[in-house]
Amino acid sequence: MKVTMIGTGYVGLVTGTCFAESGNEVTCLDVDQKKVDLLNNGGIPIYEPGLTELVKRNSASGRLTFSTSYEEAITGAKCVFICVGTPQDDNGAADLKYVQSAAESMAPYLEPSAVVICKSTVPVGTNRRVREWIQAKTDTPFYSASNPEFLKEGAAIDDFTKPDRVVVGVDDEEAADVVQELYKPFLRTEKPFISMGIESAEMVKYAANCMLATKISFINEIANICEKVNADINEVRKGIGHDARIGFSFLFPGVGYGGSCFPKDVRALAAVASDNGVSPRILRTVDETNDQQKNVLFNKLNDFFGGDLSGKTVAVWGLSFKPRTDDIREAPSLVLIRSLLKAGALVKASDPVAMENVKAELGDQVTFCDHHYDACDGADALAIVTEWNEFRNPDFDYIKLKMKSPVIFDGRNLYDRKKMAKRGFHYSGIGLSALPVPTVASES
Ligand SMILES: NC(=O)c1ccc[n+]([C@@H]2O[C@H](COP(=O)([O-])OP(=O)(O)OC[C@H]3O[C@@H](n4cnc5c(N)ncnc54)[C@H](O)[C@@H]3O)[C@@H](O)[C@H]2O)c1
Repeated sequence: MKVTMIGTGYVGLVTGTCFAESGNEVTCLDVDQKKVDLLNNGGIPIYEPGLTELVKRNSASGRLTFSTSYEEAITGAKCVFICVGTPQDDNGAADLKYVQSAAESMAPYLEPSAVVICKSTVPVGTNRRVREWIQAKTDTPFYSASNPEFLKEGAAIDDFTKPDRVVVGVDDEEAADVVQELYKPFLRTEKPFISMGIESAEMVKYAANCMLATKISFINEIANICEKVNADINEVRKGIGHDARIGFSFLFPGVGYGGSCFPKDVRALAAVASDNGVSPRILRTVDETNDQQKNVLFNKLNDFFGGDLSGKTVAVWGLSFKPRTDDIREAPSLVLIRSLLKAGALVKASDPVAMENVKAELGDQVTFCDHHYDACDGADALAIVTEWNEFRNPDFDYIKLKMKSPVIFDGRNLYDRKKMAKRGFHYSGIGLSALPVPTVASES
């Protein structure tokens, strides 16, 4: 099948490549000439594990091509996916200008009976508007579908090729059949293809992301309470996670969620609710709780140094909003680093793949270190922001030698506080008891 992805970012590039891998002829279209040139010259604009090899293989076979030309990309396509960004506007609502531009630009070249599928996360009602934007520019009959995307950066290929479910919103069964055909290779283990109304499909994506964001803000709030009452969030997590009704996923306390989806999607759904006369109390609180959580590490550091961080050197491990991605959109690391710089601290940061992106944002205000151990040279404290695997078992003796003082503020609870005390560190995590380390507690 000839498939076109409009927007060659995290979603368009990954999903387009996976469709090519399953035998389709895919064109990834983007307005960013530099991105398209890079891809045509064998480069990859994002870091996503496993993607480089897949893009290379499918480009070489001729099944995957890149273009900036709507005429070239849309002509002859049976399925046209809209995968452009939907950032938040000044009021927190989803800004649909890229979606509208994609709709209007594709219209003159659409084939009769093509299926226009919106994969971008868009507020309920947007697919109908997309239809109107296209119809204002062409009389060619076409189908509309909503196909929310659930992939996670860092595990995007696995998520897309082994989905828990595929959701499609349609008005016509023919459109659902075409989309199902495309997804068949990924649903061979009997995972469901769920066809529903367009508005419901649009809502599913927001409801899913907002539920996950709520779980994160919930466990962060419980962690903050734990600290004050000398309970330990690691123990509390175990105690509640084994309840089958609750489970363990998305119940890790930390420094708040970031990325290109949760923050904007929570705010966008809140805006939709308000516009429709529903007061989004939970969503607003989730968002507010998350914003506050991003300050937790700074507040702890500031308290530890008696409210004066000027001249202190703080090593920061982890800059991407989560491991296995170079995405720094809404990353908690940026909030921490900006606060540290404002307070007069010196920041030495390290991340396996996201340093270039942070450099582009913060420039030479920060010292970037290729190896995370080097960030500890002369540091008064180490702050851990992202739980990259390479940070899980460091050589603590070596770090201690490098640091001015052995102080770690861990935003991801990577280490055992009892062992850290034995190693001679001042160690502070999220939601850990302030009581002396118990001698009888289980460490597993
Ligand atoms: N990133 C994720 O993990 C993820 C997961 C699920 C859903 N989503 C949703 O998918 C959508 C895309 O997200 P993303 O992270 O891939 O965005 P992105 O910013 O990485 O990529 C968007 C791309 O669209 C291009 N673009 C913008 N306007 C265009 C136009 N008129 N024509 C052609 N190309 C155009 C941009 O140049 C950019 O390359 C968003 O709505 C997002 O909420 C993202």
